[in-house]
Amino acid sequence: EDAEKGSYDHYMLKEINEQPMALRQTLHGRIDGSDVVLEDFPPGSFEDVSNVQFVACGTSYHAGMYGERLLSDWGINADTFIASEYAAYPAPVDENTLVIGVTQSGETADTLEALQRARDRGARTLALTNVIGSTAARTCDDALFIRAGPEIGVAATKTFSSQVATLVLLGERLVRDVTGEPTEGHEQRLRALEALPENVESVIETTDAEAVSRRCLGDNGHFFIGRGSAFSVALEGALKFKEITYEHAEGFAAGELKHGPLALVTSETPVFAIGTGQHLNRLESNVREIQTRGGPVVAVGPRTASQLAQTADEFLPVPATHPDLVAALANVQLQLIAYHAANEMGRSIDKPRNLAKSVTVE
Ligand code: G6P
Repeated sequence: EDAEKGSYDHYMLKEINEQPMALRQTLHGRIDGSDVVLEDFPPGSFEDVSNVQFVACGTSYHAGMYGERLLSDWGINADTFIASEYAAYPAPVDENTLVIGVTQSGETADTLEALQRARDRGARTLALTNVIGSTAARTCDDALFIRAGPEIGVAATKTFSSQVATLVLLGERLVRDVTGEPTEGHEQRLRALEALPENVESVIETTDAEAVSRRCLGDNGHFFIGRGSAFSVALEGALKFKEITYEHAEGFAAGELKHGPLALVTSETPVFAIGTGQHLNRLESNVREIQTRGGPVVAVGPRTASQLAQTADEFLPVPATHPDLVAALANVQLQLIAYHAANEMGRSIDKPRNLAKSVTVE
């Protein structure tokens, strides 16, 4: 029954709308006051970990990168690798390296191969997956489930949100185990995590993405920019957009724009600028650089970012919450932008050409 489209035209829209429910399942029973409770991972489970490597593909790679940005910020050595690259050119590991395979299906061949390489070389492996009994869950030393429920649309949506929420929980556990202390500001972050389902609900209920997507389609590509966790969401926003609209879209670190991509900006290159609430003045100057070249800018950021809202040509607000979670909310706006743009163009949204839900060949 979960796999039925119901009243929705597409599974993708259904799954976007299911995100509050999926997130409630992800978080259920895993936050206890100021502590996190991860079934299979009691306190101390990660005390020997000295560094973390994420290996993943596609949307899951962007979730891994989001996790990496947070872990680094919290003082844990972390890196993210594209699984197919890691499989051929693995990074150095030892027995204190935790290699986390982020994979919705748990069956992506490149990710399984990267995990195998890590295991062969003595690292500890963990599968962060949606599918109990998947190959990744069975073959890794440990598994942590995102509990998002089945996802049918080829373009991943609700599983990204649940991956990010699970990575925040895992990060809190890791930091406590490694340093003996909770993360700085963990109370506010955990309260914000508890509020994530209702904040996503509020984005879905109040979004203006359909109208904005109609006004902001370009003839010369679509760029997505952000910093930190918003950089990973910029990459994810661009991936979603290209997957289902078949239009050119690229994500960049906001600060890199002036080192090349700015040469491509014209009045036909809309830029989606994602703000987390931190370093907003830097993002605002990027917005002005784009506008000077005639590029229209759609900013996505916390409702309270009034300067950003005023500077940009369009503004898609999200509830003001902990800066670590703003980009996850902004991502929901970008899912809706991609969906409505693709729908307007009459694309095959749930089964885009040339793509598969799960790629089980290398
Ligand atoms: C395919 C799908 C993507 C997905 C990627 C990784 O390319 O089309 O949506 O992100 O595989 O899948 P996984 O199941 O490992 O998360």
